Amino acid sequence: MNLRHPPLAEEKVFKDPVHKYIYVQENLIWKLINTQEFQRLRRIRQLGTSYLTFHGAEHSRFSHSLGVYEITRKIISQFERSAYPDWPREEKLIALCAALLHDVGHGPFSHSIEQIFDTSHEAWTCRILLENTEINRVLREYDPSLPEHVAGVIRKTYDRPIVISLVSSQMDADRMDYLLRDAYFTGVNYGTFDLDRILRVLRPYQGRIVVKESGMHAVEDYLMSRYQMYWQVYFHPVTRSSEIILRQIFRRASELYGGDYPFRFILDPLRRLLDGTLGVDSYLALDEALVQSVFMQWTSEPDPRLSALCRRFLHRRLYKYIAMEDADDGLWEEIRSEFIAAGLDPEYDLEIDFPYDMPYDVYRPGARSLTEKDEKPPILLLDGEGRLSEISERSEIVRSITGLHQGKYHIYYPEETVRESAHLFRPHIRAFFGFL
Ligand code: NI
Repeated sequence: MNLRHPPLAEEKVFKDPVHKYIYVQENLIWKLINTQEFQRLRRIRQLGTSYLTFHGAEHSRFSHSLGVYEITRKIISQFERSAYPDWPREEKLIALCAALLHDVGHGPFSHSIEQIFDTSHEAWTCRILLENTEINRVLREYDPSLPEHVAGVIRKTYDRPIVISLVSSQMDADRMDYLLRDAYFTGVNYGTFDLDRILRVLRPYQGRIVVKESGMHAVEDYLMSRYQMYWQVYFHPVTRSSEIILRQIFRRASELYGGDYPFRFILDPLRRLLDGTLGVDSYLALDEALVQSVFMQWTSEPDPRLSALCRRFLHRRLYKYIAMEDADDGLWEEIRSEFIAAGLDPEYDLEIDFPYDMPYDVYRPGARSLTEKDEKPPILLLDGEGRLSEISERSEIVRSITGLHQGKYHIYYPEETVRESAHLFRPHIRAFFGFL
């Protein structure tokens, strides 16, 4: 690695509501922040459609990415002070770049788009690192091997696992920042934990990051906050309702596009998304401002389904929802057939949703979390004799929330539309929906 590049002559700071200040000492980091691809993250919200539920949740992936960088920087400098004084500078820089850039491949409302169009933001992150972009030029100018190393951390193939676990593990800089940031911007009271305390008890040990035994209670707090945020914010049923509508918009647009429907209005990046020909340039042009402008135009498309869905999304006319205890008892199938018999379209007028994730996954070889593609290493406590134990073996609190599925099924539907046809339902189905 080329070390001719000196740090910045003068440290740069960003004011940040979560970490107070974010400190940039490396010229490389400063240049990366100022690339167009990184600045684009200002136009993508961290929490997708959650702003329709929590109106404060307008924070961007830009602020989260700076926060992940800052936590990583703090962990590194803490390790340097305590147990790891000669961490090579090039490796620290790779970790900082990966932390800063880990979400650069996110698109507008990523989760909905990824489900409908089968794309992956990690894959886009790697393409943005490796293909013809400003980020790639800045990294290469520093060292020709740097884009590949940073992409290796994102893909989890980089040969120093400790660097990967800074950015991706059960207690990584990414999760620690988003829990605190999302709690702050949604305005919820749970979701906070003592970040400084956790940073003080992290230790590098045998190529991974572990927690000093005395820090167990701080980690319990972190896991409880994660548990609360999942159920109170991330899986909020109103947010799920807006995501369903968003997915239906993309699904409808895709059907129309496939059927050669003559859109009155479409912009090139969105057309490429629909026909599967997105390249890095057109992907980068796709941000939430563009998507929302197109939706605004589509409110007057002749296709009544598409225009109604766009109006619902923009004017926040969300689907109503009802909780259902069990989806396997035949009720769901019965509701579906009642909808069809009443002339409703169950593809659009009826959705079932089950939010599942585990707040904390105990390490089980070969097992994976239901929503995450790869297994994350467990949180290990380190005692005075150098012995490691998995945290749920030691903590009653962690044990009580481990592997818990407390989610309910929810049925979503456009209330006015369903009400109009409800007189055709059999009485107990009508009663289920509360139409008497
Ligand atoms: Ni992130």
